[in-house]
Parts: sequence; C-alpha cells; structure tokens
Amino acid sequence: MFQLNDNYLKLPGSYLFSTIGRKVNEYTKAHPDKRVIRLGIGDVTQPLAPVIIEALHKAVDEMGCAETFRGYAPDLGYDFLRNAIAENDYKKRGCNISADEIFVSDGAKCDSANIQEIFGLNNKIAVCDPVYPVYVDSNVMAGRTGVYDKETETWSDVIYMPCVVENNFAPMLPKKTPDLIYLCFPNNPTGAVVNKDQLQEWVDYANKVGAVILYDAAYEAYISEENVPHSIYECEGARTCAIELRSFSKNAGFTGVRLGFTVVPKDLKCGDVALHSLWARRHGTKYNGAPYIIQRAGEAVYSEEGREQLRKQVAYYMNNAKYILEGLKSAGYTVSGGINAPYIWLKAPGKMTSWEFFDYLLENANVVGTPGSGFGPSGETYFRLTAFGSYENTVEAVNRIKALQF
Ligand SMILES: Cc1ncc(COP(=O)(O)O)c(C=O)c1O
Repeated sequence: MFQLNDNYLKLPGSYLFSTIGRKVNEYTKAHPDKRVIRLGIGDVTQPLAPVIIEALHKAVDEMGCAETFRGYAPDLGYDFLRNAIAENDYKKRGCNISADEIFVSDGAKCDSANIQEIFGLNNKIAVCDPVYPVYVDSNVMAGRTGVYDKETETWSDVIYMPCVVENNFAPMLPKKTPDLIYLCFPNNPTGAVVNKDQLQEWVDYANKVGAVILYDAAYEAYISEENVPHSIYECEGARTCAIELRSFSKNAGFTGVRLGFTVVPKDLKCGDVALHSLWARRHGTKYNGAPYIIQRAGEAVYSEEGREQLRKQVAYYMNNAKYILEGLKSAGYTVSGGINAPYIWLKAPGKMTSWEFFDYLLENANVVGTPGSGFGPSGETYFRLTAFGSYENTVEAVNRIKALQF
C-alpha cells in the first residue's frame, strides 16, 4: 500500500487568500450595487510594455521557421539572457557575478520553494515574521520544520525573526544560530528595506557561523533610495554565503508570462562541494528551462527601450504607493513601506485585529486589502495594501478610507 508524504498533512490550511476571496464574494453577492476596489493581492495590472510584446512576436515568428526554430532550451538558460542579466543586474552595479552563475527559471516562487532541496534535512531555517509563506511551507513539505503550534502559529524547529515597528521591520540577528537564513528586501509584506551596512552585517554573520543566506530580491526594481542595496552581492563576502533569487514578475509585469532566475556563486561551498554544481544538477534533472520565446522577452527588458518603458511602469505603481502612503498618513494612520517597495504596511486603528480591520474596510469603504496576521503572528494588527492597482482605483480607495470616521 502506498504511503503519503506525511509532511503535507502537517501544513496548516492556507486560508489567507481563500478566506479573502470568500468574504469578498459574500459581500458583493449581498451588495451588488457596491463597487469593491481590490488592493489586496500582489499581482500587477498594467499591460506588458511594447518592447516586450515586440520581442514576443518576433520570437514566435522565429519558432514558425525551420531555420530559426528552437527545441529544448538549455537547462540553465540561453546565453543571450544570462549575459544580459550578468551585465545589467550585476556588472553595472559593481557585483562580481558571471553569466554561468545565473540559472534562468520560470520565477522566484518555484526557486524559493525548490532551493531547500539541495540542503540537508537537519539544517535549521530562520525566517522573518511576517514572511512570504513559500519559504516556510516548502520546508514543511520537506520535513524540516518540526511540530506546528496552533496557538502561536509557529513551528518548533524554525527560528523566527520578528520584524516589528521597534526594529523598523528589519530583522535582528537571531539568538539561536541558523543554517539557512531567508531574507527578502524590499520586503513583502512590510515594504521595508535594509541599507548596505545592515545587509553587510548579515553577510558577515552568515560567513562567521557558516550559514547560507537565501536572498529574495523580487522587488529590487522598486528601490528609490541611494543607500539601499539592489543585490546582496554589493556586500563584501556575499559570494561565499549568499544565493540570490530574482523575478521578472514585478519589474516587467511577467506574472502571467513567467520568468526569473537564481544566482549561485561558484565560491559558495560546503567543504569541497560547490552548491552551484548541486543546483545545476537539480535544474538539469527536474527542470526543462524557460521557453525560448519568454527568454527573448526577458532579454528585451534589458534593452535601452525596455529599461525606459519599464522605468515608467514601475514609476506608475510607485506613484500609487506615494498616494496611499501620504493619504493614509494625513488621515492619521501609522504607515510604513511604499518608498522602496509597492507595499504599504499600516497599523489597524484602535485595538482592531487585522481581520477586524479587513471586515471594517470591506463593509464601510468597499476596499479589499490583506490582513497582516496572514503573513505570521507579528503581522497581527497590521494590514497590507498594494500599489499594483490602477491610479484611478487607488485614488478612489484612499479617498474612501480617508472619509471613514473612527
Ligand atoms: C517575496 C516574493 N518572492 C517571490 C515571489 C514570486 O515571484 P514569481 O512571480 O517570480 O514567482 C513573490 C510574489 O508575490 C514575492 O512576493
């Protein structure tokens, strides 16, 4: 008789977005005359930039012609894309990363979930609280997280690093020593960032204790301040302790197109074994490579025209972020994020819990956001709004919230 992977049975239900969906459906059914504005999920809304559409069309035409048709893509990515990434995302920022250290994939969700496979089951993971849930859940599935405590909503074998107002939503070095440290800056859900000195402290710490940092930089394109690092490889010594995950979803609107990459420097070793060779083996065995057509679209992101068009797209969302941030501040809310990230993190007014504020906003302003408690216990009483809506909807939503009386 077959057996299940019992670890899957330990996963607490992922109620966050399904509960939001159910509540919104119930409300709209009961109030068909109300126009609900969704500033909840982190999906983009602007269409793909013209330069990307052009690249997609061209690549599709190539596939219809015997001379230019492409079959299986190289497992680790086409050189034209890996070279463009190495040049633009790393060399231009003074980071020493070569094209053959870049592994092209279909996005940062898969990579951030899969990367744990190359590490032993006894590794202790450390995560921020609140956190993007994929890091923890993928380790639960692997059997690395111990026992779940329903009361505290925590796992016995996970080291939690609270990100709270007292530390500006940036984690402190943990008291217990972890082996794998998940960091994400700019952060989802809090929108917080760390400066270069703070990140350097993490790199030095990881090198000292022999830990690996899994650095998720999916929102790098939203950084607007000078001293905020775009890559962990801007820090001295990161080549021996850090893996970086990147995505084309938020900088270029590829959430439905699918493209990302992971950087594993060849200097990152456990004894004599380079993690690069393990990840290459994993990629070669379990992954077919991102489609040629999509990789050509990714290449267009780095063209001069592409960079200009996408700069405007990011600026469009960040203008929304500014409107939310300033609007809520002026209405007396405690708000953060929204300067180097498309997320605004606000404190629910009075003594409301995250879900109470969710219900209140839905019913009284017809605005949907995401309860902070859904990202971890330290998110309780907080709430996430995203800047990914249209400008018109953003303005309307903020004005409705401002009009509420507490
Ligand atoms: C922190 C973080 N990492 C990764 C992802 C997923 O990126 P992708 O669309 O490339 O899978 C998201 C998506 O919302 C995210 O918030």
